[in-house]
Amino acid sequence: MQGVNEITSTRQHPVIAIDGPAGAGKSTLAAHLARRFGYLNLETGAMYRALALKAIESDYSFDEEAPLLELASTTRIVLEPQIEGNRVLLDTRDVSKRIRDADVTAGASRVSVHPQLRAWMVGQQRKLGDKGGVVMEGRDIGTAVFPDAEVKIFLDAAPEVRGNRRYKQNAPETAPITEEAIIKEMKDRDYRDRNRAESPLRPAADAVVLDSTRMTLAEVLAKAEAIVREHVDASSL
Ligand code: C5P
Repeated sequence: MQGVNEITSTRQHPVIAIDGPAGAGKSTLAAHLARRFGYLNLETGAMYRALALKAIESDYSFDEEAPLLELASTTRIVLEPQIEGNRVLLDTRDVSKRIRDADVTAGASRVSVHPQLRAWMVGQQRKLGDKGGVVMEGRDIGTAVFPDAEVKIFLDAAPEVRGNRRYKQNAPETAPITEEAIIKEMKDRDYRDRNRAESPLRPAADAVVLDSTRMTLAEVLAKAEAIVREHVDASSL
């Protein structure tokens, strides 16, 4: 029997899907793989964050889907892959830093539960990645955006480890926030992501699950690179 990839894919280069919960290290891994193979690195979470920011600035509720959908249809969100991550433009304005603030983080997690809004996002994300040669990072890349992705990695780690890593990453000049508060915020977001009706966070059946709880960053990067090479013919890399 043919696999899904053989039926649908006409891409010369692969789509590498990286999914997993908050703080698992997806962005670091995606940026590394993109550099290693010369691909584009696309952070889909930044799109949900940009829309949440627009909702905040337009005084829209995160919980009402129809107005949010209307808002999305008049919004232009652009991801510009850079070495260190994505530059994010919201209606031509650079919001790369602002979308990392706590109010936007919480908002992104709430707007992302809406099924039609997700369908809109998925449509945009497919357009960005359908030629291949991309490392796309998010929660539903391997299950909903590119179910035919050539490589699917589900990067996970224990919540306490993810919270601790995020805590250490925080710049000293940002508002003081305790490690416990970060872990709680992550658990809340994970709960919403894993329990929403539409495309809940879960590994695709054919994803390789990489649990980095007891791995160093170097080990994660090396293992992920090996997974890519196992799944993609060298001539397509
Ligand atoms: O990855 P990041 O933490 O920037 O994502 C922000 C929020 O956007 C997540 O908490 C999640 O609720 C949502 N998201 C999603 N699907 C994606 C990417 C992000 O639901 N593909």
